[in-house]
Amino acid sequence: MEIKAIRDKLQSIGQGSALRFWDRLDEAGRGRLGRQLQLLDLTSIAQLVQTQVKTKPKLELPREIQPARAYPRDPKPEDRALYRQAEQRGMELLRGGKVGAFLVAGGQGTRLGYDGPKGEFPVTPIRNKPLFQVFAEQLAAWSQLVGKTIPWYIMTSDINDGPTRAFFQKHGHFGYDSSAIFFFQQGMMPAFAADGQMLLAEESSLALSPDGHGGSLGALARSGALADMKRRGIEQLSYFQVDNPMVQCIDPLFLGLHDLVGSEMSSKTIPKADALEKVGNFVLADGVLQVIEYSDLPESLAKQTDEQGKLRFNAGSIAIHALKVGFIERLNEGGRLNLPWHRAEKKVPYVDQEGRTIKPDKPNAIKLEQFVFDAIPLANNPMVYTTERSEEFSPVKNADGNDSPHTSRRDQVLRAIRWLKEAGVEVQEGAMVEISPSFAVRADRLAGRTLPRRIVAGESVYLE
Ligand code: UD1
Repeated sequence: MEIKAIRDKLQSIGQGSALRFWDRLDEAGRGRLGRQLQLLDLTSIAQLVQTQVKTKPKLELPREIQPARAYPRDPKPEDRALYRQAEQRGMELLRGGKVGAFLVAGGQGTRLGYDGPKGEFPVTPIRNKPLFQVFAEQLAAWSQLVGKTIPWYIMTSDINDGPTRAFFQKHGHFGYDSSAIFFFQQGMMPAFAADGQMLLAEESSLALSPDGHGGSLGALARSGALADMKRRGIEQLSYFQVDNPMVQCIDPLFLGLHDLVGSEMSSKTIPKADALEKVGNFVLADGVLQVIEYSDLPESLAKQTDEQGKLRFNAGSIAIHALKVGFIERLNEGGRLNLPWHRAEKKVPYVDQEGRTIKPDKPNAIKLEQFVFDAIPLANNPMVYTTERSEEFSPVKNADGNDSPHTSRRDQVLRAIRWLKEAGVEVQEGAMVEISPSFAVRADRLAGRTLPRRIVAGESVYLE
């Protein structure tokens, strides 16, 4: 689109002021702002301003909220055969090259206070491997186990795409076959002032931020990733977030169960640490499975207990999903992803009418994001499967306190020690252990490995 057409469009939707410094921008500045505007769907933005920005939509809670049902980690006797079949099915899918791994890493990681892409963050207890390496090594180990390289789709965003690719390059893709890695960028959304105007971060730039991990489902289609999957014969994706080094990037049982029960989108859950833990909650809302984010679940419900005193709403989301490729295609029919937008009021620096940069000390802007779990109610037969926190979830979200590098390293060590003890190794209190995915991707893969007989207090052992 020519700038004339963009200007007309902006004016017709009352956003003409985005170009107010145009006349004094140099060529590079014009190029940058022009490109940003060109990538936005200005018609949708005009609608969103009316429905989400100028008015604060009232959060409509479903009439009836009930706990969701989930498959337990260990099968009930009547489900033992199903679980055995599921594991087999998962392995078949992997051997047949029908599974892709999907990492969403487009977020800003502001809470952690780390400047670069979060996946660069060193996270393992002994070797200090960055998150990206942890995932790469796991996927490499699974690829070897199933005799087929697992294609790996990595979503970045405009704020970290270049640095992310450079990091992989610099480290030789951590030994992963680079032709099996597909990087792509998610969309960006402008921040708005309360009156609905798009904010400028600089005279030549909108104040943009990633459009939420829900945007991944549209970006997969736009970027050609979906087409790549079709070409490779991939039928389902194993979805995970960048912040959790304990994730099983590939879990044949979960992937197989997802397939066997005919689910289009499945999720893993764990019992919550406490009523108000900052995780999404799986619920049945008017009979439909969905996730209600911690910030949206009324505290009275979050704290409700059953007759045995247990939390009624105890199914926390750890943002691990399995998705059918055909489902993602269906969501993109008609060219627009129909997921709801979530509104957040944030502090966003901006340039005012005179071109002065203002750093607000209280929230001045509205940001809009889409969440991937909002696709669950649109899926056929969505399924939830329970896993264990100590096996699969210890994310790095905050600089300290809960969900920090400290707690994640601790939990990684505890898991490694538990695996070794199960395999018959004596491990003394105060020992440090890190197990490389190349040595064992899960506890049962330690069988047949040469293991130390005992690890004493104060010892640090890295197994690879
Ligand atoms: C998220 C979930 C929460 C879940 C928890 C588990 C949301 C809104 N909430 O919380 O239900 O219990 O994880 O750890 O997601 N990302 C993008 N693009 C974006 C935004 C995020 O790729 O535009 C990626 C991030 O890089 C990260 C992941 O999504 O990998 C999580 O994002 P974040 O905003 O940190 O979610 P949480 O609030 O931690």
